[in-house]
Amino acid sequence: MKNLYTANLDYRSLVNKYGSPLLILDQATVRHQYRSLKRALPSVTLHYALKPLPHPDVVSALLEEGSSFDLATKGEIDLVRNAGVDPRTCIHTHPIKKDDEIRYALDFGCNTFVIDNIEEAKKFVSFRDQARLLVRVSFPNPETPVDLSKKFGVLPQDCMELLRFAKTLGLNVVGLSFHVGSQVPNARRHCEAIEQCNDIIRQANEEGFDLEILDIGGGFPVDYEKAEEKDIFSFCAPIRDALAILPEGIRVLAEPGRFISAPSMINICTVVGKARRFGKPWYYLDDGVYCSYSGQIFDHVMYPKFAPYAVGEPQESVLAGPTCDSIDIIAENIMLPELHVDDIIVGKMMGAYTISTATEFNFINKTEILVVDTERGDELDPQFRIEPVSEVVTTDRFKLVS
Ligand SMILES: Cc1ncc(COP(=O)(O)O)c(C=O)c1O
Repeated sequence: MKNLYTANLDYRSLVNKYGSPLLILDQATVRHQYRSLKRALPSVTLHYALKPLPHPDVVSALLEEGSSFDLATKGEIDLVRNAGVDPRTCIHTHPIKKDDEIRYALDFGCNTFVIDNIEEAKKFVSFRDQARLLVRVSFPNPETPVDLSKKFGVLPQDCMELLRFAKTLGLNVVGLSFHVGSQVPNARRHCEAIEQCNDIIRQANEEGFDLEILDIGGGFPVDYEKAEEKDIFSFCAPIRDALAILPEGIRVLAEPGRFISAPSMINICTVVGKARRFGKPWYYLDDGVYCSYSGQIFDHVMYPKFAPYAVGEPQESVLAGPTCDSIDIIAENIMLPELHVDDIIVGKMMGAYTISTATEFNFINKTEILVVDTERGDELDPQFRIEPVSEVVTTDRFKLVS
């Protein structure tokens, strides 16, 4: 089956036709990733977390697969609403919300929310007849650079107290959730978190609560080093075992973001300038860390990069971005054959936390996204016209018009 792991794209023709820089988003890879994770966690309902790549064509590819969705903002709600997503398949997992954000989600029809403290619980008193709540538990994880438990989550030992407080307010708490950090190296923390949540759920239900949901969050990793397909079935084996200890009838959800979106997009950019500095060749590109490579700053990821048409002896080289800022350097010691102006650089695994965190510093437009479907063979469909992303407002900014 074809997808971005296997497709043989003609990068030069793509740039000639659509310009540079360019992001190529492949719906076939989105579907492939969803299916792989679903096979690895067959009993788990997968809610795609929109934050790494909030793009309507990712949503439509996932809708075909029967995916559910994880939302955190009004903009994300607008995106799934416009894509025709059934609100009953959505959960809203931002632990801190304004009243009007809660109302906006409820008006859409999404009624499952996350809380992790007393102040947040109080906000739901006026929505208690409609809202179902998950309590997010904190499980810090020093093994990942994206540790989400510093900012969010109640400590496991304080969880019962929060549950009891919510009960005194008449709130409908239906389960627990956690996120053990993104791009985790192994499933150890997921398993420890499931075990501790199992204890809390059993204690709570003995006390008269009716907890029926455990949301095991995201964190499922991809292989940035080799840009190869991750054996997610083996990765999830200990999670499958851990889930078996949960009381009967507990429904398990997950919020995968990166695993589904990261492999589904590549970046193509062009050498626009060249210099020799400090004994090395420096190549100045038309994309950089303020735009498609922003994940190198915000997400602490280095993307696999190569020069598909360059020949010659590799030498230590520098790849720099197009802005005037000196931190705009993509790679300081990359081994590359000599490059020339107009040569092409390709970045792989660039679908998660890349364009979604890009800026328009120096008035440089965000990189356009060309949507293809490598499996169905309509890549480079000439009917597609891509709009400059900067001309479209926030939630619509990835829109492709035909
Ligand atoms: C609440 C929540 N759910 C899901 C995700 C997605 O996590 P990942 O991309 O690691 O799968 C995130 C990432 O920040 C998150 O904050």
